Amino acid sequence: MARFDPHSFADFDQGRVTHIGLDLTVDFAASQLRGSAILTLAATADGLLELDTRDLHVEGVTDAAGNELPWSWGETDPILGTPLRVELPAATGALTVTYHTSPDASALQWLAPELTAGGQHPYLFSQCQAIHARAVIPCQDSPRARFTYDARLTVPEPLTAVMAAAPGEVGPGREPGTRLFTFRMPQSVPPYLFALAVGNLVSRDLDPRSRVYTEPELLEASAYEFAEVDGMLTAAEQIFGPYLWDRFDFLVMPPSFPYGGMENPRLTFLTPTLLAGDRSLVNVLAHELAHSWTGNLVTNATMDDFWLNEGFTVWAERRILEQLSGTEAMSLAAAIGRNGLRDAITQFGADSPLTKLETDTKGIDPDEAYSLVPYEKGFLLVALLEQTAGRQRFDAFVKSYIQEFQFTSITTAEFEQFLARELPGVAEKVRAPEWIHQVGLPDNAPEFPSTRLTYLQGLAAGWSNGQRPDPRQAGDWSAEEWQIYLQGLPRRLPQEDCVWLDETFGLTQQGNAEILFNWLVIAAGSQYEPVYPRITEFLGQVGRMKYLKPLYKTLYDRESTRALARKTFDANADRYHPIARAGLERILEIA
Ligand code: BES
Ligand code: ZN
Repeated sequence: MARFDPHSFADFDQGRVTHIGLDLTVDFAASQLRGSAILTLAATADGLLELDTRDLHVEGVTDAAGNELPWSWGETDPILGTPLRVELPAATGALTVTYHTSPDASALQWLAPELTAGGQHPYLFSQCQAIHARAVIPCQDSPRARFTYDARLTVPEPLTAVMAAAPGEVGPGREPGTRLFTFRMPQSVPPYLFALAVGNLVSRDLDPRSRVYTEPELLEASAYEFAEVDGMLTAAEQIFGPYLWDRFDFLVMPPSFPYGGMENPRLTFLTPTLLAGDRSLVNVLAHELAHSWTGNLVTNATMDDFWLNEGFTVWAERRILEQLSGTEAMSLAAAIGRNGLRDAITQFGADSPLTKLETDTKGIDPDEAYSLVPYEKGFLLVALLEQTAGRQRFDAFVKSYIQEFQFTSITTAEFEQFLARELPGVAEKVRAPEWIHQVGLPDNAPEFPSTRLTYLQGLAAGWSNGQRPDPRQAGDWSAEEWQIYLQGLPRRLPQEDCVWLDETFGLTQQGNAEILFNWLVIAAGSQYEPVYPRITEFLGQVGRMKYLKPLYKTLYDRESTRALARKTFDANADRYHPIARAGLERILEIA
């Protein structure tokens, strides 16, 4: 088979790791995970076995009987990391790597107490997608290399450890002042779904299948915001079939979490910026839930097939939204997505290869290639397939897609073959090859019109002709309506227009992160100075890259705010997640 993933040294001809047993101590003083990983192979192997690592310190490698095995480091690749080359003697069934992580591990953020809600205890969390699992565990870090695992985590009292796995027993640790938490993940997962968090955590049951974990300070708000999760689960099961991960719990993270959400199985991670107080941003929870099927059951084979994960999941997210809140809400959500896609294509350039659905990201860091294209162009193709096949036929197709491929990782070509077999003629009809293999957006993209959408877009387009929203009406707009409206305004507004908008609607004091963000982008783009303090404050409060990157880019692209961008970054760099920091350094051209 040889190497099959442009982002991994894994080669199944050498052996295939199918179970990992972890025993790790969480050392906050040293910002290190320390311990061992027992890697069990699907079948006995011998000779060279190459594992992915990044910044791991290996103390030794042994076989199951404890005999030392020869190992060495391969050449470091700036994107892939450093292969750990182990020489297996004949008929090796398992090997143990004793190691510790680096304080700079790209997958881990070690937070000082000041960066948590409570301010009293340190916090640790992981983020392994796309290729950071190798900074926590020596492993075959490709989505095709699924494994089950069990884990023992020793953490200092009084902290609690959680994982994207089934919790087991909790007891005293070997050292005084520590506790040992055990976990088991009986379903096989791709390495990017490995996840852990340690902090001052509490939880509350929301319904028989779901519980929210967070710091005590955020528990009440989190329980309120996501109280309707059960309705989402029921809606998702109607689309996809039964939920196979037992529980759907989630963890509301510290602000520096770099994404909106991460679909870690059994324990979705969510940004605290979703806590708007009115349940207006719960679509992110629906999205991560939908990944329980598209992504976690049927997984992209490599990052080149990432659209299979995200495009289907955005489609399902919007089907859930449609069912729970109606077609108008779905229409607005699709329009927000369409705006995001337009911006992403503009940024890459319409003829950039990164605007294809199936990409060729060999030699490209997945964190750099990340954009809304796989999400929103993917969504449009899936929705087009649905419209063309008819909803009933397409829903049956989706259910059989999950059945056919669950617990496997598939390529775009495998999807195309399945589509041709199950819905003959549909791919040709929608020109699927053009969607998948050509750049830009085909001219048969579906639209999701609604009267509300037309009204809001028309109102925004009329800004330059003096049209203004009626303050009494706009006071009742939903978060989606505000986003549509603000995204439809000219990017650069005269100062007096900024004054009017802000004074009339109090946008700078907005508590909804999406509305606030869209306003701050306009304010920054319009060089509206009175709002700069709020922009820099916001950039110090949130770690979500969706907000950080466009705001920093807007500031940096303008001569007058370039220094402000650098200064704000310097003041906050320590707080940003390693992945966010790296992304911002690219934007700010910091070598
Ligand atoms: N799996 C992604 C997050 C991700 C992708 C992390 C690639 C690292 C590499 C997650 O499901 C996601 O898409 N989150 C979105 C949610 C949104 C589309 C509703 C986000 O974070 O904004
Ligand atoms: Zn997603």
